[in-house]
Amino acid sequence: MATASPEPLIELRNLVKRYGLGDAQHNALDGVTLTIDRGEFITIMGPSGCGKTTLLNILGLLDRATDGEYVLEGRTVQRLSNSAHARIRSEKIGVVFQSFNLINRLNVIENVALPLTYKGVRRTQRLERASEVLRTFHLNEREYYLPWQLSGGQMQRVAIARALVNDPSIILADEPTGNLDSRSSHVIMEELSDLHRRGNTIIMVTHNPTLISYATRVIHMLDGQIATDTKTDRAPKRTTSSKIPLAARRAKTTPKAAKSRKKGAKK
Ligand SMILES: Nc1ncnc2c1ncn2[C@@H]1O[C@H](COP(=O)(O)OP(=O)(O)OP(=O)(O)O)[C@@H](O)[C@H]1O
Ligand SMILES: [Mg+2]
Repeated sequence: MATASPEPLIELRNLVKRYGLGDAQHNALDGVTLTIDRGEFITIMGPSGCGKTTLLNILGLLDRATDGEYVLEGRTVQRLSNSAHARIRSEKIGVVFQSFNLINRLNVIENVALPLTYKGVRRTQRLERASEVLRTFHLNEREYYLPWQLSGGQMQRVAIARALVNDPSIILADEPTGNLDSRSSHVIMEELSDLHRRGNTIIMVTHNPTLISYATRVIHMLDGQIATDTKTDRAPKRTTSSKIPLAARRAKTTPKAAKSRKKGAKK
């Protein structure tokens, strides 16, 4: 059996995020040091305002720390350009935002397909792939709706579909089930669990303690710092082969794939 790479996926060293000026200065992150290995499923918990979203935004290269170091796959990334950050994101990272961040003038399928634009995928393929992911979340009948025509739970599922459309190996999710009923929550947690089983790394912020059962590690934050960091009984999923993309395993079940298989059989 091959051994997992010894290099950590992510290393944060004494990360600080400071907001405000003068007397109003406030450290949203106040010296966070953290090593994350591939295949972990981490839940981050803590009271409102303790810095969870700030940390996730920095991990997702959507924001920069004021001080400290962020090393991703052995490479210091915090001083790279915005376009380099965008490239890394489109290759490796899927983000589910706390506030959905759907684009109102784009319909559901266009919203989901958006990350593929930055990857240079052609429009037809983008929409096909988006449609495939939407089917997983039982949203294919809503493909041509605009975001404001959806319920909160549906918006959340669209936001998650968008985060998964480019098969990221690192999934950052900020309260992905925060607005959902228990059935939709279950669908989403099973989806994240499945991604984790296939070797992807999940970092999820949640206020819901029952979701700890999915995690291999639980981090509690307080006042911009890590208060506790505990491994659970669930072992991290270490894959020796490269991850199996979502698209590949779904292709077996999509009607389109079934149709093309039939076509192939006729030839
Ligand atoms: N753009 C900003 N400008 C100034 N202060 C900010 C900014 N963004 C966040 N903060 C502050 O940083 C702190 C951490 O905010 P953050 O959004 O990370 O909290 P959180 O743990 O995600 O909270 P919640 O559970 O409510 O989502 C808060 O005190 C917040 O007011
Ligand atoms: Mg938050």
